[in-house]
Amino acid sequence: MPEKTTKPNIPQHIAIIMDGNGRWAKQNGKARVFGHKNGVKSVRSVTEGAARAGVKFLTLYAFSTENWNRPKAEVTALMQLLVNTISKETKTLNKNNIRLKAIGDLQSLPGNCYSELQAAMDKTAGNKGMTLVLALSYSSRWEIVDATKKLLNDVKQGRINSEEVNETLFNSYLCTHDIPDPDLLIRTSGEYRISNFLLWQLAYSELYFTPKLWPDFREEDLLEAIDDYNKRERRFGKTSEQLSEEQSAHE
Ligand code: FPP
Repeated sequence: MPEKTTKPNIPQHIAIIMDGNGRWAKQNGKARVFGHKNGVKSVRSVTEGAARAGVKFLTLYAFSTENWNRPKAEVTALMQLLVNTISKETKTLNKNNIRLKAIGDLQSLPGNCYSELQAAMDKTAGNKGMTLVLALSYSSRWEIVDATKKLLNDVKQGRINSEEVNETLFNSYLCTHDIPDPDLLIRTSGEYRISNFLLWQLAYSELYFTPKLWPDFREEDLLEAIDDYNKRERRFGKTSEQLSEEQSAHE
């Protein structure tokens, strides 16, 4: 009998904690900003690679709520880099049929960053290939508290009844309400932490850690992570036997 070939299972949503820019710059005897600038090359390669592979949502942790506490010069340089990259890359996003979206406390971004972001989101809104989600001024605890405040306000205003609150309803108050949960989370630079990123949404995600620093991480590394993901068995709390039975029933 010919061997049954199985197509690689492409994760619908990949989320990435892009870490190691500072260490990469240090290794190269340069200032931290040099690492961030080279990190943009990885963003480009991974975004195009993910779209080519058929990934539907790619979420990048570009700036956390805690990153505001970095030295002022680094924060300013990062914001400038974001503004420049977003406005420069809009054409490429359109060429690749990629829609741009952002999650986080966007009101706290500098005015020019917010307006460039909004303009890029508007210009790419009709693209249907992949959605690139930038997490900006984002932290999961901020998001959960913000969602709770909005939900409580709706209860107070009588728009919902507290008995109606369940996981689905709570999820609808999160920034990611219109995005499926990540199937795969990648973190670069050899750190084994979640760092306040998508804590609710990562409940059943597969986790992949690589020692590569973000500026060295490219499309081929993404494909390697997808290969690794393909070897995993996602059980969502069930047993292996239950999963095999379900699969046989579908064949
Ligand atoms: C973490 O490395 C990286 C960041 C805080 C910023 C990531 C930003 C980019 C890659 C550039 C812009 C991105 C887009 C989407 C246009 P780190 O500085 O914490 O590195 P370290 O842990 O080695 O110090």
